Amino acid sequence: MRAQLERDFERFGRELPRDFAAHVREHYRIDLSARYLGFALPHPVGKGSGQLSLHESQIEADLAAGLAFVVLKTVIAQDERGARTMGAWATHETKMEVERRTAGTREGWTVTWKGRGWDRSFEEYLALVRVARDVTRGGEMVVVPSVKYHLPLVHEPFREEEYRFTTQALAREWGNAPLPLEKDFSPTLAGDARSDERAAVLRWLTEVPGQIRAAAPVRLGVKLMNARFDDAFQVEMLRATRGADTLIVFNRLFDAEKGVAYGGWELSDRNLRVLSTPGLRPGLAHLTGTGNVCSGRVIAEYALRGCESVQLHTAFQLPLSAYPSRDGSRTQRVLHQMIFDPDDGLVAVLLELEAAGRLARRDGELHFLDLVDAHHQG
Ligand SMILES: Cc1cc2nc3c(=O)[nH]c(=O)nc-3n(C[C@H](O)[C@H](O)[C@H](O)COP(=O)(O)O)c2cc1C
Repeated sequence: MRAQLERDFERFGRELPRDFAAHVREHYRIDLSARYLGFALPHPVGKGSGQLSLHESQIEADLAAGLAFVVLKTVIAQDERGARTMGAWATHETKMEVERRTAGTREGWTVTWKGRGWDRSFEEYLALVRVARDVTRGGEMVVVPSVKYHLPLVHEPFREEEYRFTTQALAREWGNAPLPLEKDFSPTLAGDARSDERAAVLRWLTEVPGQIRAAAPVRLGVKLMNARFDDAFQVEMLRATRGADTLIVFNRLFDAEKGVAYGGWELSDRNLRVLSTPGLRPGLAHLTGTGNVCSGRVIAEYALRGCESVQLHTAFQLPLSAYPSRDGSRTQRVLHQMIFDPDDGLVAVLLELEAAGRLARRDGELHFLDLVDAHHQG
């Protein structure tokens, strides 16, 4: 198996077959099937919302590469007159720096960027949602929109018109109900004065899903932020969230001094630590992991803590020299590394877990989702 994996790693580094999951099933007897927001996926690797899902051409490249799912850039909710309470998040900023970020002895990557949400018109977003809808209906990749809605201070009411107008407009474009949708609680929000009060944050998590559902039938993913409080508060946030089908855990950390969000190993350490809290899982929605997913080994760590898929962002932005492949789009290069790296790729790690007696074959096959179920039982 190891020799075969080395050969596949070598040749797929020149050209990755789009249906690499079928290849893995046939040649390694490993079923990489995964889940995101109620969709069955051929494998667990998707793209998190951000600067890499702004244009149709980006979606096309992801579809061609065989990515499992994409979350569109977050749009800022508005009412029918175009008023946006969270308008401060619709800033235009193009400059991004991809930088090394070290945690102890481990070198990671982070993207430093001062921008926030979608900065073009709502109509242009709706056009992108039509592309998302058509690709999703095609059945080869799932593409879903993401929204940042009004978040009131503790004593303020919710601006229901913004919830209603935005959700209904997206649902109309989508057509067949329910509309799959992510609600983003972002790191810049964690750094904002709105989030100073724990009670305000917990109220959002309890009430925002109901506000969205009151507007239209949705399949709802709630992407939780890393708040500026301790790990126990992260657990409190998970438990406080009502009415989400999937929780995306957890968006980037916020550096209050520099005023920017960041990732790297500190992010995955914190996320995995919180998700390891004993007794956490029962009663929670489905989980999707995000944060420094830089290898198949990290995918498995998230899965062993209950995550049925993962959303990457930083990994798609690295300099070409950081990928082991010699050809292909960035998406192909990432998939090649995540799945086929002979030491840290998902195939290698699943075989390693089998050898260690932590994962068993059923009907002759190893199943990625059994990692998640092992977690449930534990
Ligand atoms: C430049 C940049 C822009 C982002 N914009 C959004 C966004 O608009 N909405 C959102 O939900 N997440 C956003 N994210 C978060 C990513 O989707 C992802 O969850 C996060 O970066 C952690 O994954 P990573 O460590 O693989 O980057 C952004 C991340 C980066 C680096």
